[in-house]
Amino acid sequence: MSSEVNQREVTFSENEFIVSKTDLRGTITYVNRTFMKVSDFPSIELIGKPHNVIRHPDMPRGAFRSLWETLKSGNEWFGFVKNRTKDGGYYWVFANVTIDYREGKPIGYYSVRRPAPKGALAIIEPIYAEMRAIESGKSPAEGAQTSMAYLESLVNEKKMSYRDFILQTYVEHASGEKE
Ligand SMILES: Cc1cc2nc3c(=O)[nH]c(=O)nc-3n(C[C@H](O)[C@H](O)[C@H](O)COP(=O)(O)O)c2cc1C
Repeated sequence: MSSEVNQREVTFSENEFIVSKTDLRGTITYVNRTFMKVSDFPSIELIGKPHNVIRHPDMPRGAFRSLWETLKSGNEWFGFVKNRTKDGGYYWVFANVTIDYREGKPIGYYSVRRPAPKGALAIIEPIYAEMRAIESGKSPAEGAQTSMAYLESLVNEKKMSYRDFILQTYVEHASGEKE
């Protein structure tokens, strides 16, 4: 599998949801048809694989640090994610990741994704670029920690939580944008 990327963007409609399920370690256990259609990976190359199989190099590590810390603390996570298609293209999503409980115990996670509005990406992409710049030259662990701290300070300056900032960024741009 090549990790090379290109500028081919894949879009999907407001009426579609990209869905996957994982176990507690992030190994994919289920993908829906829209996931396969948009990413262009067949299910055999997804099921049983770590979810970073579709990780795009433009994504800052700090975003995934935020995702995992939020889930481990028992909360759902919202965020914008740039993913890689099989041929190296990309698609942006607005993701809601939640905990899958059975008999009160977490057994895995769900992610449900909608198209990311372009107006929201105009805000998010520069933040992610800054986070990647902060991460460069640092160890993966230190980079993730430092860039996540930057993201937190950024939203704190706006007197908001990360969750409120992300939801506001999505909601403000979601209506009225038609592909
Ligand atoms: C339910 C769920 C869905 C996820 N979806 C994605 C995704 O769409 N794209 C992605 O890059 N990482 C996704 N992740 C995060 C990956 O598990 C992983 O943390 C991330 O790709 C960074 O991988 P790396 O630390 O090996 O670079 C998801 C995790 C969970 C639990």
